[in-house]
Amino acid sequence: MNAVINNIEVIKTKTSKIHDVDFEHLSFGSTFSDHMLECDFKDGKWQAPKVVPYHSITLDPSAKIFHYGQSIFEGMKAYKDANNDVYLFRPIDNCKRLNISAKRLAIPEVPENYFMEGLKTLLKVDSDWIPKNEGCSLYIRPFIFATGNGFHASPSNEYKFIIATAPSGSYFAGKVKVLIEETYSRSANGGVGFAKAGGNYAGQFYPTQLAIEKGYQQVIWTDDNTHEYIEEAGAMNIFIRINDTLITGPTSDRILDGITRKSVIDIAKAEGISVEIRKIKVHEVVAAARNGTLREMFGAGTAAVISPISGFGYHGEDFDIPEQSKPYAGFLKKRITDIQTNKCEDPFGWRFKVE
Ligand code: PLP
Ligand code: COI
Repeated sequence: MNAVINNIEVIKTKTSKIHDVDFEHLSFGSTFSDHMLECDFKDGKWQAPKVVPYHSITLDPSAKIFHYGQSIFEGMKAYKDANNDVYLFRPIDNCKRLNISAKRLAIPEVPENYFMEGLKTLLKVDSDWIPKNEGCSLYIRPFIFATGNGFHASPSNEYKFIIATAPSGSYFAGKVKVLIEETYSRSANGGVGFAKAGGNYAGQFYPTQLAIEKGYQQVIWTDDNTHEYIEEAGAMNIFIRINDTLITGPTSDRILDGITRKSVIDIAKAEGISVEIRKIKVHEVVAAARNGTLREMFGAGTAAVISPISGFGYHGEDFDIPEQSKPYAGFLKKRITDIQTNKCEDPFGWRFKVE
């Protein structure tokens, strides 16, 4: 069945999978909704995006994505409130960041109206897939990859932009124990750490596997040069609470400019919490853990929202972070999810109603 919504052509599936989904027991990112947005770059321009049934993709073995990793992605969520109204959270920031990543990977930038109108249309078509239960949302994965053929190590002349969605529950089951990395690096000056390039995540898997073998769930990335400074927590930005001050590193070539991170900073400041954006040494955190002033550590990102850290390993020693009676992590998570799901006022103007 074909239709046009928001000027976007829609081809609907004949066989919805929605009745096979157990919305009461959703895992993260493993069930996919009926449709996706698809848009091809060819003949030097992005062609008109379409909403089509979710489907597999066939590529030539020489497609550049397989050899040179020209691939970028975003992570966002859609939420439904008690009245079935649908909201996004700061979506233009994701579109802008996708294009920042695109530029760095020599991928052509996607027009903002293709991204926004395409996403809004997709959400209208698949609105029944947006979960309403507490802690659940429709995880949205916009991504672009090189589909042009040839072994020549140069940018592709063809790309595919897709937005796929997955009704999802929590990313982590509970608190996580992390290992502060002393050997491997996620990113380097002049590199692609600030971009959401697929290869950044591939490079994290092996060091993370080693940490898991040692009994940790995640790696805390440190700077590539000295490993003396704390940078990120797995695929999240990191916050460290020493006494009552919340500290996070400044964004850079190496640290992703997270939308959750900047929202946490603004909410914390508005609540009168002291926030410091500065480089933070591993030794400062270890000293705070030893003298009892390290009160919280948590990761912040779209998928995991706020993920509290129960303890960390460093240089062969384990440090526990004691439970707080009023953790900033819990308070900030509630504030941000209440704004996202239209359970409270949005003084910052971050909520975006999909109409
Ligand atoms: N850092 C990295 C490396 C990430 O992949 C992500 C996830 O997108 C984040 C931080 C958090 O960013 P955001 O809050 O925009 O999801
Ligand atoms: C997100 O938080 O949305 C991300 O993109 C991280 C991802 C690797 C799950």
